[in-house]
Amino acid sequence: MSEVAQYLVRDGIAVITMNNPPVNGLGNALRAGLMAALQKAEADAAVKGAVIIGSAKAFSGGADIREFGKPREKPDLFEVNDQQDAMKKPLVAAIGGFALGGGLELALGCHYRVAAPKAQLGLPEVKLGILPGSGGTQRLPRIVPMAEAVRMMTTGSTIPAEKAKELGLVDEIVPGDLLQAAVEFTRKLLSENKGVRRIRDLPARLDGDPEAFFAKVREQVAKESRGYPAPLEIVACAAAAATLPFDEGRKVERERFARLVNTAESKALRHMFFAERQTSKIPGVPEDTQVRPIRKAAVIGAGTMGGGIAMCFANAGIPVTLVDTTQEALDRGLQKIKGNYAATVEKGRLAQPDMDKRMGLIHGSINLGKAADADIVIEAVFERMDVKQDLFRKLDAIVQPGAILATNTSTLDVDQIAAATTRPQDVIGTHFFSPANVMRLLEVVRGGKTAKDVLATTMKLGKTLKKVPVVSGVCDGFIGNRMLEKYVQQSLFLLEEGATPAQVDSALQRWGMAMGPFAMYDMAGNDIGWEIRKRRAKERPDMVYSKFADRICEKGWFGQKAGRGWYRYEKGNRKPIPDPEVEKMLSDYRKEVGVTPRKISDEEIVERCIFALANEGARILEEGIALRASDIDMVYLTGYGFPPYRGGPMFHADTVGLGKMLDSIRRFQEGYQGDQWKLAPLLIKLASEGRRFNG
Ligand SMILES: NC(=O)c1ccc[n+]([C@@H]2O[C@H](COP(=O)([O-])OP(=O)(O)OC[C@H]3O[C@@H](n4cnc5c(N)ncnc54)[C@H](O)[C@@H]3O)[C@@H](O)[C@H]2O)c1
Repeated sequence: MSEVAQYLVRDGIAVITMNNPPVNGLGNALRAGLMAALQKAEADAAVKGAVIIGSAKAFSGGADIREFGKPREKPDLFEVNDQQDAMKKPLVAAIGGFALGGGLELALGCHYRVAAPKAQLGLPEVKLGILPGSGGTQRLPRIVPMAEAVRMMTTGSTIPAEKAKELGLVDEIVPGDLLQAAVEFTRKLLSENKGVRRIRDLPARLDGDPEAFFAKVREQVAKESRGYPAPLEIVACAAAAATLPFDEGRKVERERFARLVNTAESKALRHMFFAERQTSKIPGVPEDTQVRPIRKAAVIGAGTMGGGIAMCFANAGIPVTLVDTTQEALDRGLQKIKGNYAATVEKGRLAQPDMDKRMGLIHGSINLGKAADADIVIEAVFERMDVKQDLFRKLDAIVQPGAILATNTSTLDVDQIAAATTRPQDVIGTHFFSPANVMRLLEVVRGGKTAKDVLATTMKLGKTLKKVPVVSGVCDGFIGNRMLEKYVQQSLFLLEEGATPAQVDSALQRWGMAMGPFAMYDMAGNDIGWEIRKRRAKERPDMVYSKFADRICEKGWFGQKAGRGWYRYEKGNRKPIPDPEVEKMLSDYRKEVGVTPRKISDEEIVERCIFALANEGARILEEGIALRASDIDMVYLTGYGFPPYRGGPMFHADTVGLGKMLDSIRRFQEGYQGDQWKLAPLLIKLASEGRRFNG
């Protein structure tokens, strides 16, 4: 019998154990094994009932992602479900850990379900832009109340065993030996003559008029799904469950599933899912590289970033020493951390004892010597090379050998910082994004001399801190900000040519960006970019940028914090209000530089800004600064508010087609400031070969 679906008989009950680590993914072999085991149980006269069980961690995580893109063999999961339905002996699912997606559909194909107290159940397909395609949309609403079923399927969130019991999804919660309890449960069913109970034979759990119910649900889900097609398709399937016979409902489900799988949104979401799993794969640094233990951390600089980074450690249960130069700066930093946690407690998202525990892990000091026994020190002091080098020199003299010395610099050369120490192999960049305790992106900047185990340790730490760590080589701006510079440049040129900040913002926001560029500049503070431009003017005098942004800064319009920037802000309100004065200044500026304004389409705005990102991304890729196109996509998806359903700038370019992107850029090269468009050779090459950035 199959190794992945083991079969034995216990007390007259067939026990079918799924053994396909790590998560009992329902791959080809497991589906075939399950089918054979079910048929064997049905044929075996000595068997009166059957139990399907997984591991303590996973009943089943659903489809086997290792087989994605490979040929699918028979039987399909829905054929296994048909076999389950055909059983004349009671079939019980014993759910130890999680039962997700196809895993839950397998459990729904059973006649009863028992679960360990820590079990988690859910249908998360919507997160990949699809729907539960093996009867899930038809069976779930027949066993749990329709409103709950719709909620589970359209949000993709999991529910714990307790809740599942309450809703009827689980028949019994069994502490202790799950298999023994499941066998006893089955025997009890038999002794009580309860036998087979196929979910397909039950009516949907919906009281009242389906039409009125679904009209309301459709309206609500449409509002929440922000243009994603999957949630509404799920609602349509749920409505079919309420109004059509089971087999017809399943046909609706299959049709809608097939439609969704081919949407650009689903392709993008699936790309994102795999891209996230790729980032920690580094050529030449095997995944089993021995990492250094991180038991204790220190963060230097208790400002905006340092405070957030210290919170990341405390949230992960790692003690952290937070150091600043003065008691005043330190207290301000600690107070801010406390305020952040208190606000989370206030919102009911953190328990007071947990806040106390986390605060207890953060130790403030104005003595740099307190960082001496840290396993990693992260520096987040002022963005000046002399200040950073001086600090690293001091750290080199104080901190224990083998510790990792990391810098949070956004723009400075990590190798130059490393050169201030006698141990450049232990130096690395950890570029957090603001607010550091919230944003998922962590650019891990690999210096020229960074040791492999330091890189592996930092990547692992990133995951421990619940970040998405992405490796970047050393260059100005690393991956994210280097690309952003081109996006910023285009956004400003668009103003010079005739657009307004509100028009540029709304075009990009409608396209899906979390925020338009000008609202973003106002939020970050326009002075930051001004400082960088002043430095660039000295370092790279050849660089062309719109001087109009400087005019805004010269007036002190630094953005939200100043109450004025590209927009006006009312006191205590972050909503940007278009400012006629800015528009007047713009129109004067256009006259000054001799530009006749023209009407610019939203499509052009989007193409120019997004292709500017992807073209620079291509350069970053060919220079080896990023390891792969999907890493660049992850940077933008997790750090810059790029819409997940577009899959990232490189994936979006692939979707549009590199040939078409190339044609558009060639057109832009003929237009205003066209010489600023320097085509990435990789783009030309891949486009001519009909290839994509993402393989
Ligand atoms: N703010 C952001 O959005 C952001 C994002 C990513 C990276 N960064 C980078 O993070 C670093 C810190 O930025 P920030 O915004 O938190 O700055 P900040 O001005 O808010 O905080 C800097 C803190 O460092 C302290 N400090 C200065 N010199 C010190 C020294 N020698 N020893 C100990 N403490 C010292 C200061 O007293 C201050 O509290 C910079 O390198 C910045 O480029 C900032």
